[in-house]
Amino acid sequence: MANNREQNGLVSGFSKKSKQEKIEWISQTCFANPQQAKSVLKTYWHTDEKLQQLHDEFIENAVSNFYLPMAVAPNFVINEIPYVLPMVTEESSVVAASANAAKFWSTRGGFHAEIIGTEKTGQVHFLFSGHHQKLAKFFTAIKPKLLQETEGITKNMRKRRGGIVDIELVDSTKNMANYYQLHVRFETADAMGANFINSCLEQLAKTLQDQAASYVPFLEHENQIEVVMSILSNYVPGSRVKAWVSCPILDLGDDGHLLAQKFVQAVQIAHQNPYRAVTHNKGIMNGIDALAIATGNDFRAIEAGIHAYAAKDGQYRGLSKAWIKDETFWFELEVPLAVGTVGGLTKLHPMVKWSHELLQSPNAEGLMQIIAVSGLAQNFAALRSLVTTGIQKGHMKMHLLNILNQMGATEAEKQAMIEHFKTNVISFNAVEQALIAWRKI
Ligand code: MEV
Repeated sequence: MANNREQNGLVSGFSKKSKQEKIEWISQTCFANPQQAKSVLKTYWHTDEKLQQLHDEFIENAVSNFYLPMAVAPNFVINEIPYVLPMVTEESSVVAASANAAKFWSTRGGFHAEIIGTEKTGQVHFLFSGHHQKLAKFFTAIKPKLLQETEGITKNMRKRRGGIVDIELVDSTKNMANYYQLHVRFETADAMGANFINSCLEQLAKTLQDQAASYVPFLEHENQIEVVMSILSNYVPGSRVKAWVSCPILDLGDDGHLLAQKFVQAVQIAHQNPYRAVTHNKGIMNGIDALAIATGNDFRAIEAGIHAYAAKDGQYRGLSKAWIKDETFWFELEVPLAVGTVGGLTKLHPMVKWSHELLQSPNAEGLMQIIAVSGLAQNFAALRSLVTTGIQKGHMKMHLLNILNQMGATEAEKQAMIEHFKTNVISFNAVEQALIAWRKI
């Protein structure tokens, strides 16, 4: 087996092998110490076999579980309701930042959030080499049929006040020869809606082609509409949420004026400078992704959509706004979000279920608001550190345990080092030196 890799490192029929066989193959083929490789995977198997099987069945070729810490950030007040947020992240300082921001705003009116829209989009991309106006006429003629033939798919969604909102024909022939789209708007109730949207789109594409084939006014070459693909868009500017905080500048603390001013400047910098904007938004995504993962939502879709929104006017910009008006400080975040509280992993993954219950089982709109608040809280915490003490103080404090773990510190050593670094600047080197010195005592 060890020679497999030397032979060519490739394998056929891998997905058909049993889990054991897969583990055997990769351990023998890719690792210097196959026994150790196997044992690492097994260490992370769940002891409850049924639960393990559930996880194995989420994806193809599962061999183990990959743990990320799950934490909670208490004291969030959102639209006057207290929440504890579930957060899944590997970054040391993210949860502490959230909890600090939550506590800070809990005594200053809390966070506010409102939904701006919940509409999603999907497209059938197709090629048509005939006359535009003929296609437009054809589209108008078959639009009722397009809707009618998706009725089987939209039935349940319509009961939940979702479904297809409208279908438009878009002419993009100026950008690419013969290229058109059916641009379809959807409401998906409490589902993120990816499967629903994609099923509708594939049916629409089929109906479009079928109808074109028998549309009498078309010439022969026009009867053949060439569908390139049918897929939802993760750009969801029609599904937006706004979160904000505000308080009298005096309530920001002794240096309230200075802090507010610096906040506004930091936000202006992120608005006009893309290098800063990316990091500014990354901080926001620290809060958004942690919640998205904990609640079983597709964080890659969310990331893609939000970053596209940050560049909507042609330049990548910071997503938050800050201003001072009548001695009051305002800080706001508006982001596009497509999330679900039903479907996907929401009822399947026990930790996801737990997170939803922790959040008081919100509907999709409620979850959008909570996630946006989490992004705003992270941004607030990051900017507050950046314009005052600098980010490293808090970051390194949280990172200290990681460094100590890397150095194999015992519990007693960790306590001693935490004490020592309360009054000393943390760096990898400083921790190493301090630990060596302490071990000599
Ligand atoms: C680190 O994960 C995130 C920050 O860099 C965000 C920011 O700079 O605004 C602290």
